Amino acid sequence: MRMPKPIQHKPILHHVTFKTTRLQEMIDWYQAVVGCIPNFTDAVASWTTNDTANHRIAFLAIPGIEEDPDKIKHANMHHTAFEFGTHEALFDNYERLAAVDILPVCCLDHGLTMSFYYSDPDSNLVELQADNFGNWVLSARWMQTSEDFKREPIGVEVDPPRMIRALQDGMPLSDLLKASRAGKFLPSTRGNLYLPGP
Ligand SMILES: [Fe+2]
Repeated sequence: MRMPKPIQHKPILHHVTFKTTRLQEMIDWYQAVVGCIPNFTDAVASWTTNDTANHRIAFLAIPGIEEDPDKIKHANMHHTAFEFGTHEALFDNYERLAAVDILPVCCLDHGLTMSFYYSDPDSNLVELQADNFGNWVLSARWMQTSEDFKREPIGVEVDPPRMIRALQDGMPLSDLLKASRAGKFLPSTRGNLYLPGP
């Protein structure tokens, strides 16, 4: 590929649009999980947002769209991600959703973020995360320079209920994050990141 001149005005990532066969289910799920509300919906599409942007997550349900039963092994998007400002908000949201049986399929301490992955009605993964450094500059620096991240870039599995109990018992968040990265909060069953292989 021939590279153009360096970009002068970098655009900001604005929205993601999914093709779906389950329009209403998808609208309902994204409202439940990340608070996205439609700004406009018709019979074959919806544009939803959870902030002041006109849309962040949109759906096209045009006739002719088909399921892909083999999507896990096909090259396509792996997940979208939403960030909470604090771990407390991430854990509160975990409990809010768990109360109605919406549970993550995989939970990882990535080192740079604590990340819970949920599966939407079309089996797209949605990562809900909080920055372990509380600061994008610091977590980006850690990603670039850390031997720990080089050794374990995908992450260490964690069990949210055990972490929530530890916090309730008085463990400081900084200690919890060291412990989770060291594998002290492994779940009893392994998570599923919707990737081919064992
Ligand atoms: Fe991610």
